[in-house]
Amino acid sequence: MARKEVGTESSTQEGAPVGGADAARAARPPRTLVNRRTFVLSGFWGSMAALGAAIVGGWGIDFLWLKEITGFGAPVDVSASKIPAPGADPVHIAEGRFWLVNIPAGEADSPGGLLALYQKCPHLGCTVPWRADFDFGGKKGWFRCPCHGSTFTKEGGILVSGPSPRPLDTMAITFKPTGDITVQTGQVRAGGQDNPLRGVSLGGQAPAGA
Ligand code: FES
Repeated sequence: MARKEVGTESSTQEGAPVGGADAARAARPPRTLVNRRTFVLSGFWGSMAALGAAIVGGWGIDFLWLKEITGFGAPVDVSASKIPAPGADPVHIAEGRFWLVNIPAGEADSPGGLLALYQKCPHLGCTVPWRADFDFGGKKGWFRCPCHGSTFTKEGGILVSGPSPRPLDTMAITFKPTGDITVQTGQVRAGGQDNPLRGVSLGGQAPAGA
């Protein structure tokens, strides 16, 4: 059987020059000029174009708009129907993380009015509950921290016992013409002995629902 010669095919193709390495190189077809840099840049700009199309297309455009802040840290509205009557048990507004108390005029030397007490204990930050059943000094009804026992009055969150460095902090309140109120939970003021004097009422009158 006749053996096929290896490496002789190119030299026998039609039109191929014969003879020498230079002649063989010249006979090759031109190479495509796509190097690695061109490839990477094409991929990058392709990805950018796809991202832009997705944003304009809708799924990503949402994050371009500032969202309205709600809840704690923002103004929190409280309807008139939730406002406690003077001297009644405090009302917890979970959304704003505060207790709403209505101090009767004359209590704790207060002219009377609404007070928003931040629920966070000034000691180490535990959430302070209202304890209607807790007896202290022969009187029932206190804000009592479950962590280390700081105890605060209903009439203004004044500290009467425990390691807290000050009374409960307060938040600013504004009234609406409807009788509803807005509590500025982003404006927390350090609690002080003057807490009962910080109570506010609309035009010196008891708010609606009181
Ligand atoms: Fe409230 Fe310590 S965190 S008394």
